[in-house]
Amino acid sequence: MDQQTEVKKKVMLSGIQPSGDLHLGNYLGAVKNWAELAEQFQCYYFMADLHSITVRQNPADLRRRSISQLAQYIACGLDPEKNTLFLQSHVHEHAELGWILNCYTMFGELSRMTQFKDKSAKNAENINGGLFTYPALMAADILLYQADFVPVGQDQKQHCELTRDIAIRFNNIYGPTFTVPEPYIPKVGARVMSLSVPTSKMSKSDPQGCVFIMDPPEEIARKFKRAVTDSDTENCVRWDPEQKPGVANLMNIYSAVTGLSFEQIEHDFAGKGYGVFKPTVGDAVIETLRPIREESSRMIAEKEYLRTVYTEGAQRASSVARRTLRKVYKRVGFVEKPF
Ligand code: TYM
Repeated sequence: MDQQTEVKKKVMLSGIQPSGDLHLGNYLGAVKNWAELAEQFQCYYFMADLHSITVRQNPADLRRRSISQLAQYIACGLDPEKNTLFLQSHVHEHAELGWILNCYTMFGELSRMTQFKDKSAKNAENINGGLFTYPALMAADILLYQADFVPVGQDQKQHCELTRDIAIRFNNIYGPTFTVPEPYIPKVGARVMSLSVPTSKMSKSDPQGCVFIMDPPEEIARKFKRAVTDSDTENCVRWDPEQKPGVANLMNIYSAVTGLSFEQIEHDFAGKGYGVFKPTVGDAVIETLRPIREESSRMIAEKEYLRTVYTEGAQRASSVARRTLRKVYKRVGFVEKPF
């Protein structure tokens, strides 16, 4: 592809916090959908390590997970030649624009963020400023690259909408500076629920209800066998998210990994009951994750290769981020940097 066509590609950008190991929600809601975008878009994906420290982390674990997350991105099909893969903390422009955007983000807006409310309820002993202003940093992540689309799960929609509001506000004050991005949310898999509490989102904080990408097959099978279905006596695989959230979650997962529609799933499992359905979903997930787990385990040993990937990724990212930041500095009235 010649350079001019390359320049015209729309930009995709997303990130995941390396605050835990990647799970099925991260995969189905986000990473799975990223790999197929590389031909059509200019793609940037990063490990959101700056975001991770809004919750206390063990430093050695954070370092290890940041690298293993990169290995998992690649194992999920993100080709480092076609996607820019990097660590957020290696591109200092994120923190710099994050500060500036803090000054264009309202206290009331930040107070309304559901993730802030959830996380502060869970970490009552550490409700720090970073946890509160986190969406302004996320806006910086996105706006630095003039992203057109942000491929995320449903839970990040609110942050993406705030990013749009911040971009529009800034553009209205100073003239066109940022591309106003749109969230890019998959039709199925955008909100994977916990296998043990199907009314709560799947998250690493509930390990029993959470399937990790690196879980061994026996563990995945066990978690699906024990998945909570429904308290009704119907024992019927039927799409009814209100009355049957556990079954709806399993159908959603099954549909996301097999591509089957809900109607087809209902048809295939008619008269078979949960005892057949649960292990079948488990097997489908095991087979989907198997190549990723195997490739991740191989890739994680390639330390030098991974180092090259994140070094080159940060260099590429920084050259784009620098251009936006320079423009922003000028707009807000900072004296041009002499070096
Ligand atoms: P994070 O790290 O919580 O989640 C990473 C991605 O996984 C999706 N996700 C889910 N999707 C479906 N079902 C679930 N149960 C589930 N759990 C998580 C999330 O929607 C997300 O797409 N603030 C972001 C990280 C971030 C970011 C960014 C994302 C920082 N800067 C810029 C996009 C653009 C976060 O905490 O995601």
